[in-house]
This record gives sequence, C-alpha cells and structure tokens, in this order.
Amino acid sequence: MTAAGTAGYGAEFHPYVDLSTIGAVVTKSLAPYEWPGNPAPRLHPVRAGMMNSVGLQGPGIGEWLERTLPEIIATGADVVCSIWGRSIEDYRAAAEMLADAPDSVVAVEVNLSCPNLEGRGGIFAHDPALSAEVVAATAACARPRWAKLSPNTDRIVEVARAVTEAGAEALTLVNTLLGLTLDPSTLRPTLGNGGGGLSGPAIHPIAVRAVADVRAALPDVPIVGVGGIADTFDAVELMAVGASAVQIGTALFAEPTALARVRDGLVVEARRRGLSSVSGLTGLAVL
Ligand code: FUM
Repeated sequence: MTAAGTAGYGAEFHPYVDLSTIGAVVTKSLAPYEWPGNPAPRLHPVRAGMMNSVGLQGPGIGEWLERTLPEIIATGADVVCSIWGRSIEDYRAAAEMLADAPDSVVAVEVNLSCPNLEGRGGIFAHDPALSAEVVAATAACARPRWAKLSPNTDRIVEVARAVTEAGAEALTLVNTLLGLTLDPSTLRPTLGNGGGGLSGPAIHPIAVRAVADVRAALPDVPIVGVGGIADTFDAVELMAVGASAVQIGTALFAEPTALARVRDGLVVEARRRGLSSVSGLTGLAVL
C-alpha cells in the first residue's frame, strides 16, 4: 500500500504503478472539513530520510468523496481513507461522512499520531484512554478501522491494546518521529512550523521494533507495517516480525515505482523461501 500522506488523495500514482495491482491506496489524512495546513516549507530532505510538517492540509472528506474518490475508483484500486480530527467530535463526524462511501473504500485508517498539530501535547496516540475514545467514536464508518499509532512514546503496546479493545481491527505501525532541522545560514528551523516528523530509512529499525513488540503482546491483531521501506528486505523485515501488510511512503518521493518493485520483490522472496504466498512471510522472524 501507499502510506498516508505520501501519494496524494487520489489517482496521482496511477501513471507510475497500476493502482489496482497494489494492496490499496491510503489517502493523505482527511478531516470532516477543509484544512489549510502549516506554513511552507513543509518538506525537507535529510541524510537518511525526510522531515515534514504539512499540518494535515486537505480538502475535507465531503469534497474528496465527491471529486477525488471517483478518479481512484476508476483505476480499480482499493482505497483506505485516512481520517484525522482535532477533537473526538471531529473524528466522529469524519466517520459518519464515510458511512455511505462506495465499497471501494475498504477500510478507514484512524490517524491518531500526527506530530504536526498544535504542539507536542496534541498526539492522541500517546494516551491509551483518549486513543480508545477516538476509535470508539468512529464506529459509524461501518468498515474496518485501522488505528495508526505513534513511535514517539514508550506506551505503544498499551495504546495498541486500548484501541483494539475499543474496536480497531488492525494497527498501522508507525507514524513519523518528532524531529527538528536547522537552516545552515540562518540557524532557523528549515520547516515553516518549526519541528516536524522524521520518516524514511532512519526510522526503519524503530518501526521494526514497534511491530515486534506489539505483535508479541497482541498476536491476534493484524498489523500494517510502515516506516522506512525502500527495498524488498525492509518489507520482509516488517512482515517477519509480524506485519500482515506494509505501506511505502518516503521512498515514493524519489521513486514512485518503488511500490511495484517492492511488491514484486516480496513475491520473489516468498518463492525463494518455499512459501506459497507473500503472507507466509508474516511472523517468520526468529526472536
Ligand atoms: O503534517 C502532516 O500532515 C503529517 C501527518 C502525519 O504524520 O500523520
């Protein structure tokens, strides 16, 4: 799958990869209303990845359902709609707006972990009870909900347990890590909002650890692994420690076709190991 926020809201990637041949297109997170996001610059490359502080800019779910979703459906892709809000009521409203979405919207990813909203106190996924409340409020979307959690906490297992008890059918692990970069001449932050979220190869081992820890505690909960996948073995690693599926994000900025390269690489890797399907890679790690 594409990772939320790295492949737009719609069919932008179809010219590079037939979107009907990947697991799903995961949208940039959408709120129940249009949202302007953070001041530019919003992206900044770093040695082992990328910093971002987009601030969840978006057209709102209503506009997306009407204007953008039909374009993705025309490609034959399955769609996972990522949602966000500033309050529990926002998440509830977002879920209600998706209740009658077409069947191509196969799941809703509840983004509890954006690091770029109103200061660091605002990350829902650092609080198990609050995260559970948000997930419980999104039942009206009437499709499987995946809770996207934060690596910026030592409570990820506790949060994972709370959200699954509240109704999340799967977990997406992980979002970006809090970071800060400075411009060499001005010594001001490179991003318009100050700090941002670090993604890319630098965070891959952190994602692998998070998936392994959550899988050990909650072996029956499906996990979608995300964090720094650039090559097939990165995806194999996340699956081996317990992910049932993976998302690719930062790598797509430099190489949009990485989606197809890694997808095909997983098939080859499964065959090489004598497995009848890619899903056989899940849980193979010897820990
Ligand atoms: O700033 C952003 O839009 C980032 C979103 C996220 O990491 O969830």
